[in-house]
Amino acid sequence: MEIAIKSLILCAILLNICIPTNAILRNSLPEDGKLNFTELGVKYGHSVEEHDVITEDGYILTMFHIKGKRRKPIFVFHGIADTADIFIIRGKTSLVIALANAGYDVWVGNARGNKYGRRHVKLDADKDLNFWDFSLHEIGVYDIPAMIDYILQHTGEKKLQTIGHSQGTTTQYVLLSKRPEYNEKIELFISLAPVAFLTDLSPPVSTIAQFGPTLAEAFKSIGVEHVFPEKSPVTNFVRSVCSQDVFSYEICFLLSGFYLVGFDTKRFEPEFLKVFIGHYPGGTSRKNLMHVNQFVLSKRFCEFDYGPNGNLDHYGYLVPPDYNLYKVTTKVALIVGENDALSKVKDVEIQRTILPNIVYYHVMEDKDWNHIDFTVGNDMNVTLFPFIFKLLD
Ligand SMILES: *[C@@H]1O[C@H](CO)[C@@H](O)[C@H](O)[C@H]1NC(C)=O
Ligand SMILES: *[C@@H]1O[C@H](CO)[C@@H](O)[C@H](O)[C@H]1NC(C)=O
Repeated sequence: MEIAIKSLILCAILLNICIPTNAILRNSLPEDGKLNFTELGVKYGHSVEEHDVITEDGYILTMFHIKGKRRKPIFVFHGIADTADIFIIRGKTSLVIALANAGYDVWVGNARGNKYGRRHVKLDADKDLNFWDFSLHEIGVYDIPAMIDYILQHTGEKKLQTIGHSQGTTTQYVLLSKRPEYNEKIELFISLAPVAFLTDLSPPVSTIAQFGPTLAEAFKSIGVEHVFPEKSPVTNFVRSVCSQDVFSYEICFLLSGFYLVGFDTKRFEPEFLKVFIGHYPGGTSRKNLMHVNQFVLSKRFCEFDYGPNGNLDHYGYLVPPDYNLYKVTTKVALIVGENDALSKVKDVEIQRTILPNIVYYHVMEDKDWNHIDFTVGNDMNVTLFPFIFKLLD
């Protein structure tokens, strides 16, 4: 009986007709699942400044700053459909709080299209579909340089160090290859779960990618350009049922999409899942997902593929140009996990053969280490941060 009810609810989720059920269930996330970045910073002992950064093409992004005694700033940047929150929701064990406690001057960015990047000088994210006409390319070419220049101007420093996770590394590779002058501004780039080539994915991720173009067309035809929004019937539903233990931890784990990142339940306990779903997803564009999907299908790290005619218009060639990793001349540290379903060791090995200035390469000792253990694994403070602190110094 119970199983029947659960499968009914599951069908409802898949069909996205779960709104009535959702209305009945209260969202009772734990406190840390509800607080925003600034509030979490204060709760864990640091005052947080919120800065508005405006990109060349008019997007207004919130950047969070925790002032530190050390001079050299550190810029921290999140992955796909994610937000700055991911680096602080582990509280005392999170990267941002650990850096702040150690006296670093920490700046945490947000990409256009997430819940902290929904403003624009002209466009309305809720009304203008043009707002969503971007991919990781624009995040790399416009968002990151705007935030870096803001930090350098604000602090009077000439260089900073950066830490990226997943697409937060992809976008930095895009920046450093398309606007190589930024290599001068970044002294060291720590790449956690680096993503450039996606040639070695396994099912179910590789299977989903095969359906990507069809799904993208279907979304386009119904006018959906904003995907993985922070608020939607589906996310609200997952938040409601999973915060009230309607489903087992295992089902909520699946509902939250963990089959996409590699299973590692020992670093991700049931209570923390409830905090996590309060913050993920944070929203991005359909075009961004399409761009990533193109990496998988083409097995190339290249600019957005508009099709032969569109490519001729945009690039003057029938196929999109590659991002040239030889131009990433700044010091790069690569840290990977063997159980990471997205940043595969074999693909990072390809980056290793091309990037000219790798100062550090590390595969996490524990073979279960997955894609999100880099941001929310419950033992990061012991197993990961020591490497990061050593590199920063
Ligand atoms: C976070 O919450 C505080 C207190 O509710 C609010 O003043 C602030 O504007 C929020 N920050 C963001 C970026 O949403
Ligand atoms: C790491 O974090 C855990 C959980 O917050 C804490 O119990 C432990 O003492 C921390 N260890 C170190 C070395 O900071």
